[in-house]
Amino acid sequence: METIAKDIYYVGVNDRQKHLFENYLPLPNGVAYNSYLIVDEKVTLIDTVDISMIGRFLAKIDTVLQGKKIDYLVVNHMEPDHAGSIGLLAQKYPEMTIVGNAKTFDMINGYFDITNNRLVVKEGESLNIGTRRLTFYMAPMVHWPEVMVAYEDTDQILFSADAFGTFGTLDGSCLDKNLNTDRYWDDMRRYYACIVGKFGKPTQAAIKKLSGLTIKTICSTHGPVWQRDINKTIALYDKWSKYEAEQGVVVAYGTMYGNTEQLAEAFAEGVVKGGVNEVKIYNVSTTDASYILADVFKYKGLALGSPTYMMETYPLIESLMSKIEHRGVPDRVFACFGGHTWASASCKKMTEWAEKMQWLSVGNAVDNRQGAKMADLTQVALLGEAMAKEILNQYK
Ligand code: FEO
Repeated sequence: METIAKDIYYVGVNDRQKHLFENYLPLPNGVAYNSYLIVDEKVTLIDTVDISMIGRFLAKIDTVLQGKKIDYLVVNHMEPDHAGSIGLLAQKYPEMTIVGNAKTFDMINGYFDITNNRLVVKEGESLNIGTRRLTFYMAPMVHWPEVMVAYEDTDQILFSADAFGTFGTLDGSCLDKNLNTDRYWDDMRRYYACIVGKFGKPTQAAIKKLSGLTIKTICSTHGPVWQRDINKTIALYDKWSKYEAEQGVVVAYGTMYGNTEQLAEAFAEGVVKGGVNEVKIYNVSTTDASYILADVFKYKGLALGSPTYMMETYPLIESLMSKIEHRGVPDRVFACFGGHTWASASCKKMTEWAEKMQWLSVGNAVDNRQGAKMADLTQVALLGEAMAKEILNQYK
């Protein structure tokens, strides 16, 4: 079994079978549910795994413990991708004490009806497990209210719950130094944007709170154990939780018969002509919204294109707008365009939405009637150029 430090074992599992995380976010690279076992005077397990993986999880624990019992289960996060196995684990180890905070136990009662063998910890309290000691810090809303992290001070390891996590399985090792971590960064941003993205301020508060600790290893509940790339990982979470954007433009469009698509192409040409060459064009019907959302977190500019559909915006654009709004993404540069055949509504609705988001719109929407004509394409290209100029101006 792979070790993180002396007598600290990785007992998490890869899930290559689930297609959709939380039953809606695509997992083309799978996901890992991480759990860590510390074999000290008191055997301590940190978090569990999704119930679908309980068999191989228990087998890993058995391999390490060889009949020894678990004394403590630290529950940093109660979302069922980590907490799902608590009930069966408590049956297998009935004398195990569950360690959590008051909010943890409210959820443990609700999910598992477990009311005994519990140790309630508060902010800054420590638990001695023998030669090692765990200190607990609350990290509410990263990404549920009961989330806490545990810091082990001998090897300076932070068990960080979802924070600093990413989609993607661990192929051959859990340690970043043994992996080509290039494959994780985009998936990490998508994970952050979709799962934690609404909670930028709490994430900032947690980063600030933990900044006084010396951390050599981060053991998140998803993705690699961060050692070599620890500074990069913290810097990325810091940047995303501040909603900081880079120069670049996302063009996301819906189209029924290709007219709005032509406007999207012309808009992108305008952006490049205006001097910004980082442009991502997404057809919302063929790209899952989680990828678009990840790039909305990355880039400064967003252009939405939508035909009028039943006197509304195109349904998948409407859905994308609501996802962005729910995550409270601030301070983006906006433009929109679309088309209609007999009555126009989508451009007005997208413009009003951007006003509600308090974003800067760079010009009036281009709304073609009954087909994208040369005049429309010219006008939308100028809109793209205006967006590029505004972005360049902001990054001067
Ligand atoms: Fe990976 Fe919020 O659970």
